[in-house]
Amino acid sequence: MRKLLVLAALFSITIAAVYFSACNNSTSDKQASTETDSLKQLVERGHYLAHYVTQCMDCHSVRDTGKFSMPVVPGTEGGGAPIPFGKAEGIPGEVTPPNITPFALKDWSDEEIIRAITGGINKKGDTLFPIMPYQHYSKMAKNDILAIVAYIRTLKPIERTTPPRKLEIPMSMLGPLPVVNLDNNTIPDKADKVKYGEYIVNAAVCSECHTPMGPQGPDFSKIFSGGFVFDLPMFKVGVANITPDSATGIGTWTEEMFLARFKNNGADEMVNKYPGRMNSIMPWAMYSKMGDEELKAVYAYLRTVKPITNKVEKYPK
Ligand code: HEC
Ligand code: HEC
Repeated sequence: MRKLLVLAALFSITIAAVYFSACNNSTSDKQASTETDSLKQLVERGHYLAHYVTQCMDCHSVRDTGKFSMPVVPGTEGGGAPIPFGKAEGIPGEVTPPNITPFALKDWSDEEIIRAITGGINKKGDTLFPIMPYQHYSKMAKNDILAIVAYIRTLKPIERTTPPRKLEIPMSMLGPLPVVNLDNNTIPDKADKVKYGEYIVNAAVCSECHTPMGPQGPDFSKIFSGGFVFDLPMFKVGVANITPDSATGIGTWTEEMFLARFKNNGADEMVNKYPGRMNSIMPWAMYSKMGDEELKAVYAYLRTVKPITNKVEKYPK
């Protein structure tokens, strides 16, 4: 278990692929191309997840704060955020998403990266502040996490180091984190839309923003009902209620309306506008590139969550 997990996974996929093609009486040329295909597919899956679903790139890159939904500035992928998260995001102190390109992670083993992503412990053994949503990623299938690791290993190395975090509370307050075992996590069958949607909603960390804050932090008894206000220097935006409540949530939305909202808000014409104070922190440009099957599943799952009445003002004064 100490060795390169990603390589192990690649290896088993490769073996399966080679075995398959051998059964099909293919030539050794074809075997070789199948091998690179499986590696390519793993990296492609990782790219898809890291950019459009799990939002690694959203936090760990520079974002264009002028454009709608603040898309990633091309060429900065994974190089770390330019400014820390702080009071505006409800954090007791300042913590900057660090560089996760090979420049920063070259000495990390795959196992160490996996432990950081899913277990919240970095190479030095420090507990990561939970704005890095490792509790979500700990519920993902191992192959999806391996795909993400394989992908971030292919990022262009960016030579940049972010400042260390400054927290007003000790991380020991969190207590010891649970030891994560990804072995039993699976990607639900896509035919089970609600279950598959639940998997995507967890991986896409929707609840990180769409859960209101109580005095002790996020109030999960009101999950998805929104209300937190991001008071950013450029704009101020209230998080929407996405429970099926008809009056204040998205209870009256059809599946078509739901998909259209993602497509429209993520379309280039919309994103390339300079919306001024009518902007959003929700990474629409990224989520809109999830597949229709995924967005439909997300919709199906959100229909099943508890409806909560909570009227949210989108652009509070
Ligand atoms: C909501 C923002 C956010 C998202 C989304 C996010 N991260 Fe992070 N990540 C952070 C922050 C902030 C830290 C630093 C936490 C700390 O130092 O306490 C961090 C730390 C890390 C570290 C540890 C690096 C180090 O030098 O200690 C790794 C590796 C990492 N993230 C990878 C990922 C990957 C891969 C994904 C996607 C699966 C991801 N992150 C998604 C914000 C985020
Ligand atoms: C970084 C914070 C953040 C994340 C993550 C996030 N949202 Fe949002 N979301 C917002 C904010 C802020 C708004 C209100 C402004 C706007 O419409 O963009 C919003 C609005 C919405 C709306 C529009 C509701 C309406 O009444 O117009 C929907 C639907 C939605 N989010 C769904 C989701 C889903 C599904 C996910 C996960 C795939 C998600 N959000 C992830 C912050 C976030």
